[in-house]
Amino acid sequence: MSKTRVLTGITTTGTPHLGNYVGAIRPAIAASRGENVESYYFMADYHALIKCDDPTRIARSRLEIAATWLACGLDPGKVYFYRQSDIPEIPELTWLLTCVTAKGLMNRAHAYKASVDANAAAGEDPDAGVTMGLYSYPILMAADILMFNAHKVPVGRDQIQHIEMARDVAARFNHLFGAGRDYFTLPEAAVEDSVATLPGLDGRKMSKSYDNTVPLFEGGAKKLKESIARIVTDSRLPGEAKDPDSTALMPIFTAFATAAETAEFRVALADGLGWGEAKQRVFERLERDIAPMRARYEELIAQPGHIEEILQAGAARARAMAAPFLAELRSAVGLRDFRAQGIKAKGADALKVGKPQFKQYRESDGKFYFKFLDAEQRLLLQSGAFDSPKLAGQCIAALRADARLAEADRHLLGEGVDMAEVERALAALAE
Ligand code: TRP
Repeated sequence: MSKTRVLTGITTTGTPHLGNYVGAIRPAIAASRGENVESYYFMADYHALIKCDDPTRIARSRLEIAATWLACGLDPGKVYFYRQSDIPEIPELTWLLTCVTAKGLMNRAHAYKASVDANAAAGEDPDAGVTMGLYSYPILMAADILMFNAHKVPVGRDQIQHIEMARDVAARFNHLFGAGRDYFTLPEAAVEDSVATLPGLDGRKMSKSYDNTVPLFEGGAKKLKESIARIVTDSRLPGEAKDPDSTALMPIFTAFATAAETAEFRVALADGLGWGEAKQRVFERLERDIAPMRARYEELIAQPGHIEEILQAGAARARAMAAPFLAELRSAVGLRDFRAQGIKAKGADALKVGKPQFKQYRESDGKFYFKFLDAEQRLLLQSGAFDSPKLAGQCIAALRADARLAEADRHLLGEGVDMAEVERALAALAE
């Protein structure tokens, strides 16, 4: 059974917060432990350049994010763990995709539209402050995903549109250049519904842009405690019944607690637990999970050279997949080695040397035939006559599905066929 490829990126601006952990890092790491998955997790540092022109922050943040994923339990031996900017095939693919992406599709991107709307509201030029990086953001993201033909992309809700755009772009490329072959898998967004977005201190979605975040490791236990103390609650006094759903405390607690712990906490609030005491409980529950990870984080961040080695090894593994695939894509769009084209001018089929192939054709008797050639283009099998190309095609399909079954159909296949050779060539073709 082939594995499900799961891929996600984190933009390396800022410092990881609880929302990143609960919404992206934790579910991604849990998923990476599954038997039937192949995971690709990376630092989206090219995306970071779109949002941030402070080199010190960029440099700091990608190190922190790498250390965070490792500290949270990511196993770089099991997953592909790399920096986007270490994979030159990604910007190259971005260009191939840019050339098939409708401008109108990008006009509809939420992030771009939000900037335009903000400009309109401020009476500015609609495109004030909008870079081409921001505008093309979804194409770079599509390249991240399509480069590795990811099936599932764990993201927050705000990113679903980008995955849909990646699908559109992939389908367009397949349609234009696939010639019957789908180069790209159409990816699907995977949003963990229960905890996809965590509220921040003020109850709105926890986000750097709202400045309402609780840092995951930064500032240590002290900072975690202080941040939780700042979560907005109402003014009910200890002893008064609280509405557990009136504050961000509840979902933050829930994101870490078991169902039983959550139920118990709800009851305590309804029974009049003071907010101060409630915040202490939240802190303690979070700290139980976070403290051991924080200790690993501090150890890692003290050895940046070690993290660098892990990431370079990850990039080498990822490029071993990306480079040959990109070579195929270049060829698909017509960026081909001239020597291969020279051969093609002499005989169109010579281009396919190295792969077994079926050839269908029509004879002067008006009937349809096919041949099966091995990698050296030697004839392995010569079909009998078919009344239509469709019937010939069906026989090829039957042969590809099960050579032995098709063999029974002797009147369709010529005599003296070496079925062992045919089967070997079919297996090579299937690879
Ligand atoms: N845009 C994503 C975010 O801001 C980060 C990202 C970049 C990403 N490339 C990706 C996520 C590819 C998933 C897949 O969260």
